[in-house]
This record gives sequence, structure tokens and C-alpha cells, in this order.
Amino acid sequence: MSQPKLLLLGPPGAGKGTQSANLVERFGIEHVTTGDALRSNKGMDISHLDTEYDTPGAYMDAGELVPDEVVNEIVRTALEDADGFVLDGYPRNLDQAEYLADITDLDVVVSLSVPTDELVRRLTGRRVCSECGTNYHVEFDQPETEGVCDECGGELVQRDDDTEETVRERLRVFEENTAPVIEFYDEEGELVTVDGEGAPGEVWKRLESAVEARL
Ligand code: AP5
Ligand code: MG
Repeated sequence: MSQPKLLLLGPPGAGKGTQSANLVERFGIEHVTTGDALRSNKGMDISHLDTEYDTPGAYMDAGELVPDEVVNEIVRTALEDADGFVLDGYPRNLDQAEYLADITDLDVVVSLSVPTDELVRRLTGRRVCSECGTNYHVEFDQPETEGVCDECGGELVQRDDDTEETVRERLRVFEENTAPVIEFYDEEGELVTVDGEGAPGEVWKRLESAVEARL
């Protein structure tokens, strides 16, 4: 049997990256995340698209969506090469959801739900390894040595878009563009909603059973 194709939806800070790491380990699938792919290509010249900004990084630092042409291409290429995946951070608007439906079928679509005030606390306190990308939190998920990654010894840094002002804008953009995507999968009868509140381990238990029940 081929490996599962999973979609993990949820607002900024819901725990998509954190829980994707568990899904990767549990099912032996690939983590396909537009956020990380774009962060590795923040300075790419996209001026030929004739859009508002000339690089993905300029959109990201403002908390806005990077143009569909750029992200659709990243996802198409990544999914072509993957035998089973968890897709995180895409689709973020209805046009991207339509594009995704044209290029692949999904086995399970999950939405992680977390209240807004909790999202702001999670995002403003997040620290990320500058080498391997592992997530930490100054309060909820501390490394053994402050500022140092447990996995690879890399330096922990704050993401450029995790300032309170940009976080608020990202949440607004989510409500406007991505909440309708979640409604769309719900109306199609494909959506499983998992409560994303509580410790990461508790959320993982709920998520794992929800996914297993549907495979
Ligand atoms: P992206 O990188 O995808 O960011 P996001 O969707 O805003 O989500 P985050 O990565 O911030 O949160 P997460 O849900 O992964 O949470 P995490 O596990 O880290 O996108 C960034 C930007 O790229 C966008 O703004 C846009 O500009 C662009 N972009 C990306 N995709 C695009 C697309 N498809 N189209 C257009 N533009 C696109 O957890 C957060 C924190 O909480 C961590 O510190 C973690 O340790 C902690 N935590 C996790 N779980 C728990 C828990 N249960 N309890 C307590 N703390 C927890
Ligand atoms: Mg993430």
C-alpha cells in the first residue's frame, strides 16, 4: 500500500509544524511545508510576476500571502517526489485548494483548532533552530540548554514574522483567506477537527487516533 497523504490545516501557531514532525515519524512520510520552503528562498527574485513585492520574504515579513504562482509550483514539485506526505501551510486560499485538488488526492484532512489568544502566546514565544528548524517555546517547550537546539546544537532564533504586530496581521489574513478553505473541506464532508489545546503530547494522542481511524 502506498503511504498516506495527509493535509494539516490550522491558523498560525496551531501546532502544524510541531505535529507534522510526529506524523512524519509515525507514518514514515515526508513533511511538505510551504512556510519552510519559502523561508529557504526568501530572497528569490519574483519581480517578473509583476506583483506587489519582488521577493517572497517581503510578503512573509508583512504577514501577507506569497503569490499563488510561487507556492503552487513549490507544492507541485514537492508532491511529485513524495511517497506519502503531510502537507502543512497549504492551501491557504480557495484558489490554492482548487489547484491542489487537480494535482493530488488526499486520504485525511485535519484541522487543528486553537483559540486566538493562545495562538498569540505560542507565536510570540516560539524559537526555531537556525540549523535544523526544530520548534521550541520559551515557556511551553524549552530546550535543555537555553538558546541551543537539543537535536543538533544549532542556535535558536525568533522567526522574523513572530513579532506581535505581524502575528496579528497573519491571524487576520488567516481569517480572511484560509478559514474559508477549512469551511470548504468541512462542507465536502472531508474534514476532521482536532482540539489543538493542551500539551503537545496530548494533542498528538488526539491527532494520531483521529488519523488512524480514517486510514
Ligand atoms: P508558515 O511558516 O506556514 O506559518 P503559519 O501558518 O503562520 O504557521 P506557523 O508555522 O507559524 O505555526 P504552526 O501551526 O506550524 O505552529 P508551530 O508548530 O510552529 O507561513 C509563514 C508565511 O509564509 C506566511 O505568513 C506567508 O507569508 C507564507 N506562506 C506560507 N505558505 C503559504 C501559502 N500556501 N500561500 C501563500 N503564502 C504562504 O507551533 C507554534 C509555537 O507553539 C511553537 O513555539 C511550539 O513550540 C508551540 N506549541 C506547539 N504546540 C503547542 C501546544 N500544544 N502547547 C503549547 N505550545 C505549543
Ligand atoms: Mg509551521
